[in-house]
Amino acid sequence: MKSHKIYNDIVETTGNTPLVKLNRITKGLKSEIYAKIEFFNPAGSVKDRIAKYMIETAEKKGKIKPGDTIVENSSGNTALALAIVCSVRGYNLKIVIRDSTSPDKLKILKALNVDLILVDSTLPPESPDSYNNLAPRIAAKTPNSYYLDQHNDRTNNEAHYKTTGPEIWEQMQGQIDYFVAGVGTGGTICGVAQFLKEKDPDIQVIGVDPKGSVFYDYFHKGKKIKPSPYLIEGLGDEFLIGCVDFSLLDDIYQITDQTAFEMTRKIAEKEAIMAGGSSGAALWGALKLAHEIDRPARIVTLFPDSANRYISSIFNDSWLKEKGLME
Ligand SMILES: Cc1ncc(COP(=O)(O)O)c(C=O)c1O
Repeated sequence: MKSHKIYNDIVETTGNTPLVKLNRITKGLKSEIYAKIEFFNPAGSVKDRIAKYMIETAEKKGKIKPGDTIVENSSGNTALALAIVCSVRGYNLKIVIRDSTSPDKLKILKALNVDLILVDSTLPPESPDSYNNLAPRIAAKTPNSYYLDQHNDRTNNEAHYKTTGPEIWEQMQGQIDYFVAGVGTGGTICGVAQFLKEKDPDIQVIGVDPKGSVFYDYFHKGKKIKPSPYLIEGLGDEFLIGCVDFSLLDDIYQITDQTAFEMTRKIAEKEAIMAGGSSGAALWGALKLAHEIDRPARIVTLFPDSANRYISSIFNDSWLKEKGLME
C-alpha cells in the first residue's frame, strides 16, 4: 500500500498497489479470488510500472539521456504512463496508437500534450504503416531517439519480476495457488509467473487471450492463426512477440469481447470496483478456473486499469449496441 511518506515526484508513487478480496461476485464458490488493483498507479494503470522501470534501466545502461525522444507503440496505457515519466524525467515522446483506441484514452493523452501518430486499425499487420511496424520506422528516422519496444524487450517482464510479483507474494503471505491475468505484451503475466514459480513451483499461471489474437491457438496447437479484429484493449496481438514466454504459462483461456465487457460491468455492479475491459477478461478467467476446480484455492488476478478509460465505450449502452454486443 502507498505509504505516508512525501514522494519526491509523481513517478515515485508507482507500485505498491492494493490487493482486494472479491466477496460478492464469488458467492457460492469454494475458492477465494483476490484482485490487484493497478489503477492506483499515478497514470492509472499497470503500465506505469514498466514505463518507470524501462526508462530507468535504459538510462542506467547509457542508452538514453534526458532530452532524447522515446518512441513507442501503445494501446494507450503505456502511452499515458510514458507521458508522465518522460515529462518528469525530461524526455520527448512520440506515440504510435490505433485510431480505434477508446476516445477517453485519446482525450487524456491529448490533455497531456502527447505527440500522437494515429494509425488506421484496419491496416493488415504486414503493412509498413501498421501499428507494430510504424514505431520502429519513426524511431529510425528521429535523431536521438530510442524505441522502447515493450512487446519484445524483456526489461518489460523484469519490471513485474521485480515489483508486481514480490508485492503479490508478500500481500498473499506466500499462500497462492493460481495467478490468472490477461496477456498483452506478456510482461505482467510472465514477469509475475517467473517470480511466483521461483518461490513456489506449484503455483499455476493462466493467461486470458481475446478471440482474434494469436496467443491462444499458438499455445494449444503450436500454430499461428490469421488474426482477426477484436475490441478488448491491451490484450492479445496479431504477432507472436518476444515478451510472451509460453513456457511460464500453464494454460491460456480464450474470451470474446462480449463476455469480457459484461464481466467488466458486473465488477462495477457487484464489487463497486470501477475497472477496465481487460480486468473483466482477467476476472472471467479466474471465475472459470474457480468453477472448474470446484475446491478451496487462493486465486490472484490483476485489474490493469480503470473504467474511466472506457466510459464512452464499455460503459455506454449505445456503443455496445452499435458494436452488436448488446441486444
Ligand atoms: C488495459 C490493459 N490491460 C492489460 C494489458 C496487458 O498487460 P501486459 O502488456 O503486461 O501483458 C495492457 C497492456 O497494454 C493494457 O493496456
